[in-house]
Amino acid sequence: MRPLTRRQLLALGAVGAGATAAGGAGLWLTTGNGPGYTGGEGLTEPQVLASRDRVLELDLTAAPARVRVGGRDASVQAFNGSLPGPTLRVRAGDTIRVTLRNGLRAPTNLHVHGLHVSPQGNSDNPFVSIDPGGSFDYEFTLPEDHPPGTYWYHPHRHGHAADQVAAGLYGAIVVEDPDPVPVTRERVLVVSDLSLDAAGNLAEVDQLQQMMGREGEIVLVNGQLRPQLRAAPGERERWRIINACPSRYLRLALDGQQVRLLSRDLGRLPIPEDVTEVVLAPGNRVELLVETRDGSAALTAGALDRGSMNAMMGGAMRGDNKSGGGPVELLTLAVSGSAGTDPGPVPEGRPLRDLRNEPVTAARTLNFAMGMNGNMGAGMGSGQGTMMAFTINGREFDPERLDETAAAGTVEEWTLTNSSPMDHPIHLHVWPMQIVQDGNRDVTRPKWQDVVNVPARSQVKVRVAFDDFAGRTVIHCHILDHEDQGMMATVQAR
Ligand code: C2O
Ligand code: CU
Ligand code: CU
Repeated sequence: MRPLTRRQLLALGAVGAGATAAGGAGLWLTTGNGPGYTGGEGLTEPQVLASRDRVLELDLTAAPARVRVGGRDASVQAFNGSLPGPTLRVRAGDTIRVTLRNGLRAPTNLHVHGLHVSPQGNSDNPFVSIDPGGSFDYEFTLPEDHPPGTYWYHPHRHGHAADQVAAGLYGAIVVEDPDPVPVTRERVLVVSDLSLDAAGNLAEVDQLQQMMGREGEIVLVNGQLRPQLRAAPGERERWRIINACPSRYLRLALDGQQVRLLSRDLGRLPIPEDVTEVVLAPGNRVELLVETRDGSAALTAGALDRGSMNAMMGGAMRGDNKSGGGPVELLTLAVSGSAGTDPGPVPEGRPLRDLRNEPVTAARTLNFAMGMNGNMGAGMGSGQGTMMAFTINGREFDPERLDETAAAGTVEEWTLTNSSPMDHPIHLHVWPMQIVQDGNRDVTRPKWQDVVNVPARSQVKVRVAFDDFAGRTVIHCHILDHEDQGMMATVQAR
């Protein structure tokens, strides 16, 4: 990490409109199809590993890998040499056994994002650290009533999570639907972003990008640039989309096709909802039902304002943090030919649990903040130290400290407040959150997510049922640069 000097900061603030237009200095204004890249190949999907007789056993090696990205040779980091890693398909009640080998030069570990499994021991334990050259045997057992849905895995070693996810370490997990929706086909679409230098190595990230949350200059789907999908008219596809970008929000639209939202993060909506766009914060997933119509369409990720640090920096920075200037084309869908067979109606799903009908035993407030570090004054002049502190209730992450303790088996109401000028997508491990109030607005229908965006200078109220498991885990900002810089706290159920 290169610390920014006062001169560099001023230079950033001083760049004029002309320089902005000329590629935004490659900082956070991105075109999604950087120079020298080619896209448009047929979509490929990662290898699928499915459980058999209630068990899925696999080896995952996290290591440097040489892959082709957008027609260029790229040196990335990948699970088992592929970008993304293999897709794991399991059912409720299954056990996943993973031997994770660390072929990287930094410590790592593995997190199964969104799975409702134990946080202890060799299960989904974010405090595990595997040294370079080492390995660890994970075992995740899903309860019999585990919600179906699209989940994912990625490294979670504090201090290295953003670097490792940005480098290419992520993969999909599908928990099969016990009441399947009739579709013509299903697709797993893992969205990530990446920045390469001229030699095809991972581009260096500076301190300003880390404060803002880094955004890669190209946006990939299953490691491909603008892949192409084909379908016949009148078909129904189920798209499982994962936002595996370390910081980029995705405001997705697929014009000209009929799109319904089937699932957000976990479970499924009883009745899918018509949508024209959906926003995925980092870590979020959606399942979309796409009913195809003749013509060609593009899945685009539009610009999204996720706040600015301008105010904090005394207006010295050009920090309008819009994800990706104009819309980025993620993939194209060509629909032609004779009509496919009608897949039939979508059966209604099971009603969702509503924690507003259950007694709440405790309330607490967690405030997410960004402040100048004590050494900021000196830092500006000398270019030393971190300029910004990322905190929860005023404290940076300490894995040894116990921050929040809930009684297992109870329901709590948490107010997530954001006193900073940037959005923070807040993620709790193990236990999903039901959003009951967003800003001043009551959320009327049961809305469950495991990453909840808390907009700048706003607040969101959620309820959490501390079911099933005891143990200690974490809550954090899923802008992984913020997490690595301290915006994470420990949560224990006992
Ligand atoms: Cu997807 Cu704690 O992370
Ligand atoms: Cu997670
Ligand atoms: Cu954040």
